[in-house]
Amino acid sequence: MTRGRWSAAVLAVALLAGGCTDEDANARFRPGAADLGDPYVPGAGNGGYDVAHYALQVRYDPASDRLTGQATVTATATAGLSRFQFDLAGLTVDRVRVDGAPATHRRDGNELVVTPAHGLPAGKRFTVEVAYGGVPQPLPSGELGDGGFHATGDGAIALGQPESASTWYPVNDHPSDKATYDLEVTVPDGLAALSNGVPKGRSSKDGWTTWRWSEGSPMASYLTTLVIGNYRVSTGTHAGKPLVTAVAAGLPADGPAARALARTGEVADFLADRFGPYPFDAYGGIAVADERIRYALETQTRPVYGPGFFRGGRPNTEVVAHELAHQWFGDSVSLSRWSDIWLNEGFATYAEWLWNEHDGVRTVAQAFADRYAVTDWTKPTVDPGRAAMFGDAVYQRGALAVHALRRAVGDETFFRMLRGWLAERRNGTATTADFIGYAERVAGRSLRPLFDAWLVGASAPALP
Ligand code: TRP
Ligand code: ZN
Repeated sequence: MTRGRWSAAVLAVALLAGGCTDEDANARFRPGAADLGDPYVPGAGNGGYDVAHYALQVRYDPASDRLTGQATVTATATAGLSRFQFDLAGLTVDRVRVDGAPATHRRDGNELVVTPAHGLPAGKRFTVEVAYGGVPQPLPSGELGDGGFHATGDGAIALGQPESASTWYPVNDHPSDKATYDLEVTVPDGLAALSNGVPKGRSSKDGWTTWRWSEGSPMASYLTTLVIGNYRVSTGTHAGKPLVTAVAAGLPADGPAARALARTGEVADFLADRFGPYPFDAYGGIAVADERIRYALETQTRPVYGPGFFRGGRPNTEVVAHELAHQWFGDSVSLSRWSDIWLNEGFATYAEWLWNEHDGVRTVAQAFADRYAVTDWTKPTVDPGRAAMFGDAVYQRGALAVHALRRAVGDETFFRMLRGWLAERRNGTATTADFIGYAERVAGRSLRPLFDAWLVGASAPALP
């Protein structure tokens, strides 16, 4: 029975019984779920609403590590809500308003529970303003390295996967709820404050500078970043869009990090030739010097690169190809659930193989053969388990599966398939089953045995 017919039936009974409409009204509103049931990230995300936009105003003082924030979140109720939750780790909430009216709020671990003065009917668009502040902390996540907010002395670096955003703003922290963002970051004069998307200018007042950023394409929350500190910022354009790169002042001005990031436009164009048009309105990259950042992350339009990638003498463009490939695979077309992470990492690793072939390092065929020889086929690529999210079965076996698909359908069909998939799913989310279904439609035949063997089979598949 649909909700509408059920309500009508209840109302009819209530009228016959002499009218008890208050109870009927209450039954329309229930608490929104405390998470989205993704077993890889217990507690992350929230049910009952869908965020369209975050407008964040954040002030950060590196001298005290204090952050003060004002978040305005615009969302639509997907069910009748008596109350709802955001993910918010640490930090103190001073005030919450829903559609301009004061709302009650309480903390429950890393959740902010908001009870508006009136229930929110299903389908209603509403705006939540949260005033908050405190000293942000990283989120411990064991072997994956801490995600979230890292104070660096001269500033801060906020990033991390699968969770990090809740350490600096209230958020529906799951990639299945993408939203657009406007961000204003206020920092002491002389420091840079970098984030995602198009630069919207900056202004100074009383010793503080506000940097403005805008991301107009839907973005998963783990792809947001905030990097504050002493950076050499270079602002230009590429292919008619703003290109902003930043290199930590602690890294050499013309060293491997700076020289690798300078090739961002060239690498993006190489990938666009294969995957279709670059999906966003800005380009960029940020090279940080903090040794705790042991990874690069594909933060939308502006990946963050840890210092470990740039130790060798020559610029590491392989990692640039990997993070920029994620702009298509992961950022534009995002995960519905973390167990499908090979859809991000398998394709980003494959993009490294394509770039390395182009760059004269080694052929794709060679990369494939080398990997095939050392792969542990007992470990599955799909649903590898939380602890193996960033393991070889996801990155390397995932890339092997991509190449096996290419060999099976041929180059022309393969690249047409990738471009079609990315165009159809642009700004959305997808699952492994969605991808296989799409690939089968383009190929005009079943690819089930191929994907089963390469993604989850427990022994070495026959070479295609
Ligand atoms: N997704 C990142 C990449 O492939 C790697 C990564 C995994 C990461 N966990 C992380 C980066 C945590 C930063 C923080 O490039
Ligand atoms: Zn990756």
